[in-house]
Amino acid sequence: MIRLIIPSIEEDDLQAVREILASGYLVQGPRVAAFERAIADYVGVQHAVAVSNCTAALHLSLLALDVRPGDLVVVAAYSWIATANVIELCGAQPVFVDVQPDTFNMDPMQLAQVMGRLMENSATAVRVKAILPVHTFGQMADMPAILEVARHYRIPVVEDAACALGASWDGLPAGSWGSMGCFSFHPRKAITTGEGGMIVTNDAGLARTLRMLRNHGLDPESTTADFVRPGFNYRLTEFQGALGLTQFAKLERIITARQKAAAHYDQLLAGASLCSPVVSPGVRHIYQSYVTLLPEEAVSRRADLIRHWHEQDVEAAIGTIHMPLTAYYQSRYGYREGDFPVTDVVAERSVTLPLYENMSPTVQARVVEVVLADLMV
Ligand SMILES: Cc1ncc(COP(=O)(O)O)c(C=O)c1O
Repeated sequence: MIRLIIPSIEEDDLQAVREILASGYLVQGPRVAAFERAIADYVGVQHAVAVSNCTAALHLSLLALDVRPGDLVVVAAYSWIATANVIELCGAQPVFVDVQPDTFNMDPMQLAQVMGRLMENSATAVRVKAILPVHTFGQMADMPAILEVARHYRIPVVEDAACALGASWDGLPAGSWGSMGCFSFHPRKAITTGEGGMIVTNDAGLARTLRMLRNHGLDPESTTADFVRPGFNYRLTEFQGALGLTQFAKLERIITARQKAAAHYDQLLAGASLCSPVVSPGVRHIYQSYVTLLPEEAVSRRADLIRHWHEQDVEAAIGTIHMPLTAYYQSRYGYREGDFPVTDVVAERSVTLPLYENMSPTVQARVVEVVLADLMV
């Protein structure tokens, strides 16, 4: 089977985990702290707070901004469901924004319209607590334009950079633009700790709150065990911290290999009916996923196509989720097809092809051969 992803786990990763397991000190400790430092330095921010996954990272970020029941968080419509769920889990309501048809990222013009509508109405203006753009599939959203809108209304931005460690816009790293940025280390990301997440920020106050919230409300700056608010256990384990460090040492190598493989797919797909991904100028796309768009005539066959490719040992998947049209959001807020017309199209046409560090050109050629054979008719 040509897998969608194969994590780059090597002997030094195994050794690092083995060492911690053998030590018996398994919970958050010095390796987690070193992993935090490595990520903060890499992103160019003051603080990084490791947590058990990116869903936890997003959840804590919103809680740190004091998002409460009745509040509104403005969010891209096309993302993994966690991006909207964390808003609901704070008791708040997501206000979805349509995406761009080529980059699949939050459309800043749509954001400006949505924010204008919300902020002109005094009843909703006071409820808007955050803007949550997503760096979809490893390509950054248009942060200069998004921040312009956010600053105009003085609303903080949390970057869902789950897929985008190492991505940048005009040389400035994903995660360093907003009040906070959240990364994932799920195995489908460039580097992995099995499950794992990280929040980065330049705000010492937010970092302190995040550290409290991830550890039962224990104030990290108190000299006594001082539980100052209710918190979670969202800690990363020490063996995951150790794995994070060895994985992090490979990050640039992995990104370079994935970019090379993506460029090879671009060549193989040139002129084909399957559209390869579009990269905005000045953007460093790290290709967490290589997401293509099916020709319109093939949209109704997508599930069958993916199944048929699987039968020929090629694992493919849809892109990500049209969040407003999932059962929960549809029934709770009454969203219908047509409310987010670009997301409607992108969500039904997207197909992710296999991409991993050690993918050979021959294997890529096989993927494209199998996929295009079904699109000729
Ligand atoms: C855009 C986005 N946000 C959030 C998440 C949640 O990350 P995690 O699986 O680490 O909780 C994911 C996971 O794939 C994601 O793709």
